Amino acid sequence: MKNIVVLVSGSGTNLQRILDTIDQGEIQNAKVTLVVADRECYGLERAKNHQIESILIPRGKNFSSELSKVIPENTDLIVLAGFLSILKPEFCENWQGKIINIHPALLPKFGGKGMWGMNVHHAVIEAGEKESGATVHFVTPEIDEGDIILQKSFIINQGETPETLAARIHEVEYEIFPKAINKVLGN
Ligand code: GRF
Repeated sequence: MKNIVVLVSGSGTNLQRILDTIDQGEIQNAKVTLVVADRECYGLERAKNHQIESILIPRGKNFSSELSKVIPENTDLIVLAGFLSILKPEFCENWQGKIINIHPALLPKFGGKGMWGMNVHHAVIEAGEKESGATVHFVTPEIDEGDIILQKSFIINQGETPETLAARIHEVEYEIFPKAINKVLGN
């Protein structure tokens, strides 16, 4: 059985998807042992509703060191599912190959500092991109630059808005996140 820790900052629909796909057997031989949030958010409620231990560590300069203290030693995978704090390089290096993130664009485009949430979708539309999508990648000290595990794209519609793009990307995320987790876990 592989042990997963999930980090969240927001509504946690990707966390929900992970919990559901574990329950449904789409992700096998794995369980979420802990959910950590860096702020009050609905992701914490989802953990509680699922009887999963959850911890709030307020964001700030000590976040990574506090996080290190609460992550169980037997953790096989740390999943960033809509998580907004930047983890310290030392933390990323300690867990190298065992931390993954989902990003709402086609990396290496539209990644890096400031490229989160609706900022990404606004930037994609303004740049007149023909495609967007989602990417699951390994987390390294350089923001959004780790090796890509899985990516899926789609064609941007005429009249697409940042809001419609966000909704379509969420659907893609729900599809590729469980697959990427299986891949990393060797399932
Ligand atoms: C997702 O679009 C993810 O790519 C980004 O943050 C969003 C989180 O959504 N990193 P949710 O909290 O899982 O609904």
